[in-house]
Amino acid sequence: MTIGVLTSGGDAPGMNAAVRAVVRTAIVDGMQVKGINRGYAGLLDEEIFDMDSRSVADILTRGGTMLLTARCKEFMQPEYQKKAADILHRQGIDGLVVIGGDGSFRGAKALAHLGIRTIGVPATIDMDIACTEYTIGFDTAINTAMDAIDKIRDTSASHERCCIVEVMGRRAGYIALYSAIAAGAEEVLLPETYDYDEEKIISHILENRAKGKKLHMIINAEGVGDSLGMAERIQRRTGIDTRATLLGHIQRGGHPTCKDRVYASMMGAKAEELLRDGKSNRVVAYYHGEYKDFDIDEALAMQKHLPEDMLVISRKLIR
Ligand code: ADP
Ligand code: F6P
Repeated sequence: MTIGVLTSGGDAPGMNAAVRAVVRTAIVDGMQVKGINRGYAGLLDEEIFDMDSRSVADILTRGGTMLLTARCKEFMQPEYQKKAADILHRQGIDGLVVIGGDGSFRGAKALAHLGIRTIGVPATIDMDIACTEYTIGFDTAINTAMDAIDKIRDTSASHERCCIVEVMGRRAGYIALYSAIAAGAEEVLLPETYDYDEEKIISHILENRAKGKKLHMIINAEGVGDSLGMAERIQRRTGIDTRATLLGHIQRGGHPTCKDRVYASMMGAKAEELLRDGKSNRVVAYYHGEYKDFDIDEALAMQKHLPEDMLVISRKLIR
């Protein structure tokens, strides 16, 4: 049996650990492995190569993805999905591991319906995949964000400023919520809960000043955005020096944390096991404290919400 592996969508620290686990466990189980470069774009261009145990040497500790990644609009169209399935058949690839986010899983589902056995592995710093309580890259991203925010805190406190730090997450507030709790912020703006009432923020800043607080740190999620405009308006209204920092892609790079390396290794290995056992159209997940797998359609239909208990406690701690 020959299996393929690709990474797709935004990269995430720990993707390499997952690729390594797929390759090494497949070889131990007597399978052949082919790597596919640049996600679905590389699949359509037939950028496919044989992998052995040495192909994945020295990647476990590195951020990014050795297989490169891409976003490929063409792949949304059925004719290109059919072309990709034909290429996989011609290459003798019986099963495919797709390491990526929800969008990548939609592509995997299309291939499964065309007779390619596919398994998804959840990897995105945004943590916005409903069927799983953990996505590869999230832990590294929040630690990177926390370190950066700690540094911004030092200088903001010295200058008695208000500061806004914008973190990634696309439409989800997980990175913002975790980093705001970890950094001891005064305010967190989440796309899931923010009411866009800037007057409340301004009153809050002024109240805190009146109480003697010298620093006001706002963690703003990318899904809320407009940090630069917000900083300008806050400074104008409060008279307090205010700076905005967009952390940006720094959150997607760097050596994966221990958690990301271990969970990614487990999830990559589980994906290989599922293919070995003849399964298809599944997504590996970490759910209620266990590694599990879900049908892709079921996984994509699930809804995800920020944990209510974290929101309640964050309202008491972030003020
Ligand atoms: P992520 O996998 O991180 O959610 P994207 O949403 O950018 O990232 O999706 C990655 C790639 O998956 C897209 O560029 C496209 O090639 C493929 N994809 C996304 N949505 C679909 C879909 N509905 N059908 C088929 N392929 C899709
Ligand atoms: O999905 C991961 C992510 O980093 C999001 O947090 C962000 O919105 C997006 O990707 C940025 O994408 P790009 O690298 O294309 O700018």
